[in-house]
Amino acid sequence: MPAFSALGQRARPPTIARLMSLALDNPRLLSLAAGFTDNRTLPVAAVKTAVDALAAQPAAPEWLQYGANQGRPRLRELLATRLVAQDPGLDPNATASGLFITNGSQQALYLAMQVLGDPGDIVLVDRPSYFVFLELLTGLGITARSLPVDAAGKLDTAALGALLAGMKTRGEFKRLKAVYFVSYYSNPSGRSLDTAEKNALAATLTAHGATVPVIEDAAYRELWFARPPAAAGVLALPAWEKFPRLYLSTLTKPFASGLKVGWGVCTDAGWLARMLHTKGHHDFGTANFNQAICEQALATGGLDAQLAVSRPAYARKMRALHETLLAAGLPVLGWSWREAEGGLYLWLEAPAALDTGLDSAFCRACVEAGVLYVPGELCFGDEVPKNFIRLSYGVLAEPELAEAGRRFAGVAAKFGYGEDSGGSSTGTGLGGAAKSSR
Ligand SMILES: Cc1ncc(COP(=O)(O)O)c(C=O)c1O
Repeated sequence: MPAFSALGQRARPPTIARLMSLALDNPRLLSLAAGFTDNRTLPVAAVKTAVDALAAQPAAPEWLQYGANQGRPRLRELLATRLVAQDPGLDPNATASGLFITNGSQQALYLAMQVLGDPGDIVLVDRPSYFVFLELLTGLGITARSLPVDAAGKLDTAALGALLAGMKTRGEFKRLKAVYFVSYYSNPSGRSLDTAEKNALAATLTAHGATVPVIEDAAYRELWFARPPAAAGVLALPAWEKFPRLYLSTLTKPFASGLKVGWGVCTDAGWLARMLHTKGHHDFGTANFNQAICEQALATGGLDAQLAVSRPAYARKMRALHETLLAAGLPVLGWSWREAEGGLYLWLEAPAALDTGLDSAFCRACVEAGVLYVPGELCFGDEVPKNFIRLSYGVLAEPELAEAGRRFAGVAAKFGYGEDSGGSSTGTGLGGAAKSSR
């Protein structure tokens, strides 16, 4: 056995990989777990058109050659133009020069934290938060601390003030390295932050001298159903001007997940440079071919055409799952959730006494009934409740979603309010390594 580094020793199997392999190994299982996009609506024609156009170019095929570490200049310009259209007031040139392309926005999240945080440092995260980011922090030895929220899930500024004051008293404040939140149709909660909430967060942090780097994860901003979100991004809000800001987005959700092209805009030259140096160490550039396909799709309207198909498709799928759960009587059993207005997820709150964790009898019963979900316990930086569940409607077709919803509701009905739901797993549950890594 090699002598592993501290980072190597901390590494744990990502929970999502385990959930995915469980679904792949068991074809009868209907997975509401993975945050995959819909295979049936992926943009085959737009990708073919893009590749044909590239192949027809008379010039040497530079798109099959290594590209620039920061990303293809034209793609960066096109993405900057698209962002300026969403956040008017941004300077197109500054936006393009701070914009970099990554291997999915996941790589950008890793780069951001790799250059900011050391083991023992602290990051404030939304509550609930994107669990792969939380696992990433654990892997780097960084502690997540939740931004306090009220019963409606809105930021509680007074509690945040108290949290920051407490960190000062305990000598932890200097270890606070960043603030992270998913701002549009969040994974997992489906919630969006409105402009007032973003401004209140900035004001509270500023009032406590915590103008630390902020990471706004806008992965789902383009996946709205009825109308685009009204809230501006942090790059466009004066309340955030004093903060080093990193706005992250991706083409994996709105266009083609398999191309794995993500992007970020960083306002701080030093932070950007260090992320790019580190990206150079990772891969010295995201796959140029994949970027070139995205570039074509943006330049010729392929991305917008794809969104015109996928937005209503996801809205229908969300409704199919939502209505099945309603019809099956989950609210009567004490479950609650909000219909999503975009994104890929329903976030369910179960009765308080029902343990839905990876090791729970409930989770085991769902797998036995042939349905898989993401336990909400994975999505909290601290003070972890056991009675939340994330359901994704991205992958399954509507009839399968309805069947999965019925299977899920059937198990929920058997467990009732959860008082007698049984204790922890006897070893056949899904828990283990990933849970102990948190
Ligand atoms: C909130 C959020 N951020 C970032 C990512 C990473 O996406 P990608 O690496 O595919 O761009 C995801 C993927 O599911 C996500 O849900």
